[in-house]
Amino acid sequence: MAKKLKVGLIGSGDIARQRHLPYWRELEDEGRVEILGVCDLIPERCETQAALCKQAKPWLRYRSMLAKHPFDIIDICTQNRGHAPISVDALNSGAHVIVEKPMAMNAEESRAMIAASKKNKRKLMVAQHMRFEAGHEKLKEVVESGALGKIYSGEAKWLRRRGIPGWGKFHIAKESFGGPMADIGVHMMDLCMWLMGFPKPIAVSGKIYRMFGDRDDLFNAEWGRHYPAKEFDVEDYALGLVRLEGGATMQVSVSWALNIPEETGGVMVLGDKAGIHTNPLGVYSADHSSLTRNSWDWLSDEDGHRREIRHFCECVEKNKQVRVQPEQSLVIQKIIDGIYLSSKLNKEVPIK
Ligand SMILES: NC(=O)c1ccc[n+]([C@@H]2O[C@H](COP(=O)([O-])OP(=O)(O)OC[C@H]3O[C@@H](n4cnc5c(N)ncnc54)[C@H](O)[C@@H]3O)[C@@H](O)[C@H]2O)c1
Repeated sequence: MAKKLKVGLIGSGDIARQRHLPYWRELEDEGRVEILGVCDLIPERCETQAALCKQAKPWLRYRSMLAKHPFDIIDICTQNRGHAPISVDALNSGAHVIVEKPMAMNAEESRAMIAASKKNKRKLMVAQHMRFEAGHEKLKEVVESGALGKIYSGEAKWLRRRGIPGWGKFHIAKESFGGPMADIGVHMMDLCMWLMGFPKPIAVSGKIYRMFGDRDDLFNAEWGRHYPAKEFDVEDYALGLVRLEGGATMQVSVSWALNIPEETGGVMVLGDKAGIHTNPLGVYSADHSSLTRNSWDWLSDEDGHRREIRHFCECVEKNKQVRVQPEQSLVIQKIIDGIYLSSKLNKEVPIK
């Protein structure tokens, strides 16, 4: 019987409670891991979540928790500000690290995480769960078969009509660094770039807007509590055009609040033989004198987060390469940094 991996989780808020810890507990039930620690700055949060595990202890200080056990895996679900420093400490303690998106607050922090991963020979993976959804895996298979022909453009879009996160610290720049670009843009761009095969970005032109989030009269539908409007200092709409190596492009547009008819979005990748779209999911082309759409009549609806946690566990168990390579997450972080810089300077900026 293989040894059980010792798992610790840091930041037991919303995403940990709903999508990470339930899946680690499943693995614990299967005898593959033992969850030994759950840490949060808020005592009630770590105590409640630790109590749901078989033997986990609650911790208020993550460094004390790291010092207590030689963890095999540390799962980091704090808000963005904690991602890099906690990842580096966890990697230096000898643990493999899975960390929520976005990778860090900026590319410099992301590079430090990769350096710590290399120095300690420990795996590092950003939790881009969308890559693990069955439909997106199918689209990846199609791309890899060569069916798209020459890929020349992609689009990463998620426009919410009203959907500013009304919990946590998503709306505060010093905690999260950005608004929808850092929150949902990172998902869509990661998926788009992964499907496109991660061509190297050369330059980006972007623009961000803050039109609603800092208004007291904002009507935010059913999205959590209404945070104090004066705290809101990130964007609520962002767009960009990324120039990729070889003449390809990626458009990105994301919002938490816009005056549009309804929420819309998805990832599109265009080739000269066929295109793919995530919404509606399918492969779009033409055959003789007809337009065609190919999709799948049945796909597993298993939660991408579940598959992602199980993938990471298996990568550590079997020493396999993680699907979301940290260098790829660094590329996404560089694009996001570039969009903010371009917006500030009001011109296209190179991505190095
Ligand atoms: N993959 C997804 O679909 C998805 C969805 C939502 C959130 N997220 C990401 O997950 C992260 C957390 O989001 P959330 O909605 O759970 O926020 P949240 O505010 O509900 O939870 C974050 C928790 O981290 C704790 N924390 C912060 N710093 C800490 C530290 N130094 N030590 C211990 N605990 C600390 C906070 O007290 C809080 O309980 C964010 O980075 C967000 O981008 C990902």
